[in-house]
Amino acid sequence: MEKPKLTIDEMAVFCKRKGFVYPSAEIYGGIAGFYDFGHLGVELKNNIKKEWWKTFVQQRDDVVGIDGSIITNPNVWKASGHVDGFTDVIVDCKKCGSRFRGDTLIEDKLKIPTAGMPLDEIAEKLKGHRIKCQKCGSELSEPKKFNLMFSTNVGPVQGSVAYLRPETAQIIFADFKLVQENARLKLPFGIAQIGKSFRNEISPREFLFRMREFEQMELEYFVHPEKQDECIFIEEVSDYELNVLSAEMQKNKKNMGKLTIRQCLSKKIIRTKWHAYWLASMHKWFVELGANPEHFRIRQHVKDELSHYALDTWDLEYEFPFGWRELQGLSNRTDFDLKQHMEHSKADLSLFDEESKKKILPHVICEPSQGVERAFLVFLFDAYSYDKARENVVLRLHPKLAPVKIGIFPLVSNKADVVKKARGVYDELKQRWACTFDLSGSIGRRYARADETGIYATVTIDFESLEDDSVTIRSRDTTEQIRVKISELKDVLTKFMEGEKLGKLGKSVGVK
Ligand code: GLY
Repeated sequence: MEKPKLTIDEMAVFCKRKGFVYPSAEIYGGIAGFYDFGHLGVELKNNIKKEWWKTFVQQRDDVVGIDGSIITNPNVWKASGHVDGFTDVIVDCKKCGSRFRGDTLIEDKLKIPTAGMPLDEIAEKLKGHRIKCQKCGSELSEPKKFNLMFSTNVGPVQGSVAYLRPETAQIIFADFKLVQENARLKLPFGIAQIGKSFRNEISPREFLFRMREFEQMELEYFVHPEKQDECIFIEEVSDYELNVLSAEMQKNKKNMGKLTIRQCLSKKIIRTKWHAYWLASMHKWFVELGANPEHFRIRQHVKDELSHYALDTWDLEYEFPFGWRELQGLSNRTDFDLKQHMEHSKADLSLFDEESKKKILPHVICEPSQGVERAFLVFLFDAYSYDKARENVVLRLHPKLAPVKIGIFPLVSNKADVVKKARGVYDELKQRWACTFDLSGSIGRRYARADETGIYATVTIDFESLEDDSVTIRSRDTTEQIRVKISELKDVLTKFMEGEKLGKLGKSVGVK
């Protein structure tokens, strides 16, 4: 299996150098766990969110979206269990004051999984194995629980504590009844949201992988409690194949296997058709946008790892340079959240079932929960390549994701009529696509700059263009070039962007 070609630190350097991501407010030394997105990063991030929203909300009849507030009534977080239970275990160095996650120290030293390990066992292992401060080697304090929610005060009144949301999911549950009624949704249906979430991670690390401020793309899919396995879309994905690592396989220390969704269901590896359907759909979304399926697997949470709300969880994992890690969590949350909010708010969140003429409380059969920045990293890692012949980096992003789709280059910068004609082409194309106009440096240097930032096609205007109104289009991925009339340019670029081979769209003029 081919591994990513960069380490995570090298990726951070690349992202900074090319204008994708910067440490937040670096002139002041930055702040751990917070990043700013640069002129290309914001475009890539927006494209990822746009594609997700298009696929899972706009192109579906059964899903609608919301955009909830970041700070909401704090009782939401009491009901959800976050106030009491959204914690990690923290230990302090008695000498230098550095703070660490207790479970991570154990994982690093003993190389054992710690998911779900209770506080007293963490304390016992830290003591028993004489685990010390990773910075100065001194004694560590007794471990204690640390709530990961950021709190703040609302208005000028001290003590009116509220929280920055640690997940977007709860706003969907709190608004559930209004959305269902106003959008006239009938089970099964989903409600989706994309937005910022905040977690006061004890040790943010691995660049964009574990941040304190990040964005989520979440979808809660609700089904009738007595029809939890009636997935109407399962045939669409039955033959879809992916790498699978079940809880059973992990228990028996077996390697992951390649299985179809049909096999996962018939062997009862995945419990419900809906869960299988969403796992395949999310995997497919990445692959259709250019990610390498060999870098993905689905892994079931072992019993101790399950969150307090989950009956069953599968992670869609990606092989990052620092190992297999969760890219997206897909949980069966049952009716846990709606029940909790009914109890705490006293509102009736049940639906009237026309068939049985009874009130029912829907189950969230699956909650795909995706971190936008983790998807951002995946697409960058899989797109990054070094082309030996070109002696240059080529960022082979899918055209739907490329921050800039087309570069428009006048061959020479000192001939006013060539530059003017090129500007005319730029003014026209930028109405439809994200474009850039570049006239500085040799044409070879401009191609190299374009390749490195993933510009999908370049259009060059030369002396001949003044005579015959034709231009050269160059493909980022193959360096193939064709000559086309300016009047045909938009049509040809549209087809090229939709996946047609460049050579079939005009007169070939070689490879450069
Ligand atoms: N809603 C699940 C999560 O944020 O992890």
